[in-house]
Amino acid sequence: MKKLNGIPMLGLGTYPLQGDDVYNAVRMAIDLGYRHIDTAQMYGNEAGVGRAIKDCGVARHELFIVTKVDPGNVSPQRFAKTVKQSISDLGGPVDLLLIHWPPSDAEFDGALDRLLAELENGNTKTIGVSNFSIKMMRHAYAYTDGKIICNQVEFHPLLDQSRILAAASELGVVLEAYSPIARGAALKPEIIQRIAASHNRPPSEIVLRWITQQGVVAIPMTTKQQNAASNLRAVDFELSAEDMKAIGSLGTAGGRTINPSWMKGRWDPTV
Ligand SMILES: NC(=O)c1ccc[n+]([C@@H]2O[C@H](COP(=O)([O-])OP(=O)(O)OC[C@H]3O[C@@H](n4cnc5c(N)ncnc54)[C@H](OP(=O)(O)O)[C@@H]3O)[C@@H](O)[C@H]2O)c1
Repeated sequence: MKKLNGIPMLGLGTYPLQGDDVYNAVRMAIDLGYRHIDTAQMYGNEAGVGRAIKDCGVARHELFIVTKVDPGNVSPQRFAKTVKQSISDLGGPVDLLLIHWPPSDAEFDGALDRLLAELENGNTKTIGVSNFSIKMMRHAYAYTDGKIICNQVEFHPLLDQSRILAAASELGVVLEAYSPIARGAALKPEIIQRIAASHNRPPSEIVLRWITQQGVVAIPMTTKQQNAASNLRAVDFELSAEDMKAIGSLGTAGGRTINPSWMKGRWDPTV
């Protein structure tokens, strides 16, 4: 599969799966050919993901494992300690370590220093951020001398993320699309259904291809084998420029699925 900044273009999301559910989903996905798995301290499922990695029969160096530092763990007292626990649960160093949500202004640069330290000590091969606004992403990129390889953000046809995509591309930072099918909502619009029918593919493949064709990594979550296999097929066809534009026209600035209270006033301004 094509990689963007070394990240396989399609991966498996694991929130909110727990215990045997996450184990079974990750085993199933790897059996189907997935090589990129997304987890986080916040999901409470790193141990289950680690168990699946250990048992899957695919060499660890062929997998791309991503985890994220919880907002409550970015302090000097907790960052390294909790990353050590994540690494232990996941069975060894990860491929990509992200700061899950933007730290407070007071903790911002310190958290980036601690992220860099994890790169230097080998607990992760690469580093990135998640839910960072354009301004925060540019700052993180400059502060780390360009070591930030990605920004994982909500990205699907119902949310206009064109400005952050342009800003990331300018830096050479890859966007990773979370909630890429907007938890099902992005499958419903008539335009998506019509384009899906014209390609003889399910709406989910159209949405995921609209994302990946823009050079954005997608990490849909599913526990169903049929959906997991279908999602993986979303990278092997092309949408026309006309289809891309029509799907893009669905996006609005207010189309977020995930908008926690602590982000109030911290997203990119919409006008
Ligand atoms: N960085 C962050 O702050 C952040 C925030 C949210 C999520 N994430 C990550 O992004 C991942 C994905 O986001 P998400 O789980 O919020 O939303 P999502 O992937 O857009 O939607 C997941 C839902 O879509 C369904 N689905 C998946 N493939 C389908 C298909 N081919 N056809 C029909 N339905 C399908 C799944 O149900 P079935 O199981 O029935 O298929 C599930 O209910 C998460 O698991 C997590 O790893 C990160």
